[in-house]
This record gives sequence, C-alpha cells and structure tokens, in this order.
Amino acid sequence: MEKPFFITQPDDWHLHLREGEMLATTVPASARVFARAIVMPNLSSPIVTIDQAKNYKQNIIKHIPASSNFTPLMTLYLTDNIKQQDIITGKTEDIIFACKLYPQGATTNSEFGVTNINKMYPLFAIMERYQIPLLIHAEVNDDKIDIFDRELAFIDKHLIDIINNFPELKIVMEHITTVDAVEFIKEQNHNVAATITAHHLLYNRNHMLAGGIKPHYYCLPILKRSTHQQALIDIATSGHNRFFLGTDSAPHQLDKKQSCCGCAGCFTAPFALELYTEVFAKENKIGQLEKFASFNGADFYGIPRNTAKVKITKKSWQMPDFLDYDNEKFKLLGANETWNWSANIEHH
Ligand code: DOR
Ligand code: ZN
Repeated sequence: MEKPFFITQPDDWHLHLREGEMLATTVPASARVFARAIVMPNLSSPIVTIDQAKNYKQNIIKHIPASSNFTPLMTLYLTDNIKQQDIITGKTEDIIFACKLYPQGATTNSEFGVTNINKMYPLFAIMERYQIPLLIHAEVNDDKIDIFDRELAFIDKHLIDIINNFPELKIVMEHITTVDAVEFIKEQNHNVAATITAHHLLYNRNHMLAGGIKPHYYCLPILKRSTHQQALIDIATSGHNRFFLGTDSAPHQLDKKQSCCGCAGCFTAPFALELYTEVFAKENKIGQLEKFASFNGADFYGIPRNTAKVKITKKSWQMPDFLDYDNEKFKLLGANETWNWSANIEHH
C-alpha cells in the first residue's frame, strides 16, 4: 500500500448546513475533517439580523461532536432593507464573519436578495471601512441572458464596478465555473479571490445532460462545458493563492431534486476532502492540495492557518447512496462511484 500523507486540517469557505433537525446530520458530517466553515445564510427565513445569526450559530454548535474543533463562521444575507447597524454590530461584536450577496432570484432561497446592486454601494462602503468581506453569488438573474452566460454577464455588469469602487473591500467570487472567472480573478489584486467546489472540478454539463437528465448534478451556477472545467482544475491545482476550497455543499430532499422543477444544489460535504483529493491526484498535483484546501483561504481572510493534521490514505471505497436523517434521504453526489482516497483527522 502507498504511504499515507498528511495535510494541515482544511476549512470549507462556503457551506450550506440548512437548519432544524437536519443540523444533526450536516454539522457532524462537515466537522469530521473541516476545522472552520463559512455558513451560508439562505435559510427559508434568511439570516438578516444579528439575533438570527447568534441563534443560528447556537443551534449549529449544539451539534458539534465533542471530539471536534469545528467553528462555524457566520454570515448575514444582504437584502434591500438590511440595517447598516446590524452589519457593524455583527462585526464589532465578532458575531459575523462576512456578508453574502445574492442577486434576487439567482438561486435557492434568494427571493429576499438584492434587487439593485448599485443601491448597495453605501453599504459596501461601510463594509470596506469595517473590513467585512463581501461574498458574492456572481450570476445575473435575467431571463434574456442564457443560463450558461450568467456568470460572465455578472462580471461585466457588476463585479468590475464593485471592485473599482471599493479597492479595499475583500471580495470573494463564490463557486466560480468558467475560464472567464478564472482569468478575471487572476488579474485582480490581493483583495479579490474565488472559491471552487468539488463538483465543478469533477464534472461538466455532459455528466448532467448526456445519456439522460441527472438532477443530482444540477446546481447553480450550472455545470459548464469541459473546457471550463479544465480551467478550474488547472487553477486549483496550480497553487495560486487567491483560489481556495468552498464546497457549496447544498443538500435538498430527494423528492425536491427528483422533480419536474428540481432544486439546485449538490450534497458533497460529508466526503468533500476525498473528492478534492481525487482531482489533485489525477492531475499529479497532490503536493498543491494543502495550499488550496488549508492555506489560501485562511491567508486571504487574514486568520491563522489550522494546526491539526488530516491523514490521507490511498484506499478504494464506495460512497453510500444517501445520508439519512429522520425519514428523509439526502443523495450524495458521487454516490456509488468508486473513490480512491480516504481522509481522517489525526488526534494527537
Ligand atoms: O446549487 C446551489 N445550491 N447553488 C446555490 O447558490 C445555492 C445552493 C442552495 O442553497 O441550495
Ligand atoms: Zn452556496
């Protein structure tokens, strides 16, 4: 057997844990190998106030296993009416880590999202002053724009302008999916970065659409053609320090995915590090995994790197079909495929 290798414990810089009883499943699943996670605020009733963020954090913490050092980093959901004071208090009292911008209607539970991004500029100025990162679902929601072009349209229509107006604001373009986004982010300065999911590295739109429509691959931004996938693989495995791990793991109930109007979201968090490792190993770039998974995000956000180690072993295994809680089933992306790497936290 090949020798195992170790990397510094990774963080997940973009995660949907959902709410209620489901936290009993999602929280331990992420806490198994990840030290920290930025928790997305798009609950059915979104996290728009400090009290809601505090409450949500408490509910998450209840489900962290005693053996784990997991820390949820909370976010606020920007709306047209979000209160400046909530954002300032959230930061000064160390309750929130960042704010998330969803263009209204762009994705799951985004109906309370922002209708006019330009009107948010006074708020971005406050965030810049208080050093609160802005995390962006960077897609326009416009019927006239093809769904495969919505990321590039967002760069052209909004992102360039936001970056130019707020050069000291830390901005993360979340879950990028195109070569255009890769090239754009590369050209920016140290305050602009991007996360990349495991599913956008492993799959392209053929996986979703060729030989039958497969709803478990459906996410937003939607999977693109393989040339875009390759650009994401190349940049993630290059070690470039402004690209880092964010799973965007987003479970939905089985009947909500397998439906004539299925929800967007891929559930990957329980085995995410294994999925990412597969990509890096296939590219012969295992040596770059630690930067992408464990260093770049912490460095960008200006917080300490983790100190614990994760042991990664070459060993084939089959992913179970589902993670269950109560009587609900949550299909895992990559289920029933064979994977070649296993990861486990090392307790010393
Ligand atoms: O596929 C997605 N699912 N993309 C998102 O932006 C949101 C997420 C969810 O919350 O289900
Ligand atoms: Zn997301």
